Amino acid sequence: MSPPAQPSMRPTGAGELITDTLDVVHDRFSASEGGELASYIPELATADPGLFGIAVASVTGNVYVSGDADVPFTIQSLSKPFVFALALRDLGLEEVLVRVGAEPSGEGFSSIRLEPGTGRPPNPMVNAGAIVTTSLVDAPDEAARFERIRAELGAFAGRELDVDERVYASEAATGDRNRAIAYLMHGAGSLQADVEGTLGTYFRQCSVLVTARDLAVMAATLANGGVNPVTGVEVVEEHVAERVLAVMATCGMYDYAGEWLLRAGLPAKSGVSGGLVCAGVGQFGLGLFSPPLDARGNSVRSVAAAQEISRRFDLHLMHRPDRDVSALYRSTRVDRLRQLAHRTPGQRRRLRDLGSAISVRAVQGSVEFAAAESILRSVDELPSPLPDGECWLILDLSRASRVISLGAQLLGGLVERLQSQRVHVVVVDPFERGLVTGVEHRTTTFEDAQRWCEDQLLATA
Ligand code: DON
Repeated sequence: MSPPAQPSMRPTGAGELITDTLDVVHDRFSASEGGELASYIPELATADPGLFGIAVASVTGNVYVSGDADVPFTIQSLSKPFVFALALRDLGLEEVLVRVGAEPSGEGFSSIRLEPGTGRPPNPMVNAGAIVTTSLVDAPDEAARFERIRAELGAFAGRELDVDERVYASEAATGDRNRAIAYLMHGAGSLQADVEGTLGTYFRQCSVLVTARDLAVMAATLANGGVNPVTGVEVVEEHVAERVLAVMATCGMYDYAGEWLLRAGLPAKSGVSGGLVCAGVGQFGLGLFSPPLDARGNSVRSVAAAQEISRRFDLHLMHRPDRDVSALYRSTRVDRLRQLAHRTPGQRRRLRDLGSAISVRAVQGSVEFAAAESILRSVDELPSPLPDGECWLILDLSRASRVISLGAQLLGGLVERLQSQRVHVVVVDPFERGLVTGVEHRTTTFEDAQRWCEDQLLATA
């Protein structure tokens, strides 16, 4: 017998629509001429100022690129959020905060200012803070520490990453300002590890080679709650990814951090080789590369292009989420619904008269504070034509994507309260996720819930 014919797959090229959008942004800024190459690390001054690449990696694991997105360059300060993630994994937030703060400095990336009293650097995104976070990565010696960092950066990028030895040697030979900062911190107690060893690891970490495509996947991993969307590997836990993104949002762009958040509204980090990473939380990672920098050390074209993409894709962090979608999408009673097919004429009549005793609330999307609150308020009063006020509530969670812990707590409390007041609560959840505790009855379809409540009502009345 011949196997069944397979349907042929017709390529539609639909993904090109996203690439087209990136091409439009790339074309718009590729001719911009402003900015200077970084020269305090001499090797960086040899970069080609005309290079310009943009890459987007979605949380579904697709990558779209425009321009020079596969040209390697050294990661520099873009390593800082990812090494901060590693320190958070090793030590936890409280221990890390003892040694490095989380306040925007309002100063340049190589500021020497430390917190009076504690000697802590202001945050892990400026050089001082990053040198401390590098020293906090747990390892028996500097070689092992660097290998852990290289492996972590590679896990974020989804491939093994190499080091540019020329850039490393160039920075190691000229990094006196970082040396000064490190010795100052050692004197103040915030850097407790060996100064020269830590600096060697930090300079090597800054010399790891990446592309704009890598950066997009790295940012998408943070945007995806710590799971690399291309490899499927959980690189960091979700709470670590959230904390890294928070510090990127407030401190990632140095003395441009405030205006950046105002204009682009995205957690981001820049680097002196011309790279920029941004995360559209829950949506995608963005990686950009263009070597000429503005006076604050941020890539001129990358900043302009990222702001344009944020505007076009409507990504500003402060946009109200799901603003067009009501969490509570259905609020009704059974006497207003189509009757079930198997009911006798007598039952139908009684359900028309008494069906207002069965209320329905259906929610969609993520049940967070606002959604849980709207459910609570919608059941402030429930109708009942029965003399003792007995009634039923069908809570339909079929379209709820998840119930966060506060939502679950509020809904659990609601169920307990209602049931003590002779309100029978039935939850509909086709996926049997046990999202709300303590309910009298659970069903996987709305029809089953309706039948269960109606049968009880008919038996009672
Ligand atoms: O420590 C340094 O100075 C460099 N390795 C990295 C600085 C950097 O990328 C700042 N970013 N804008």
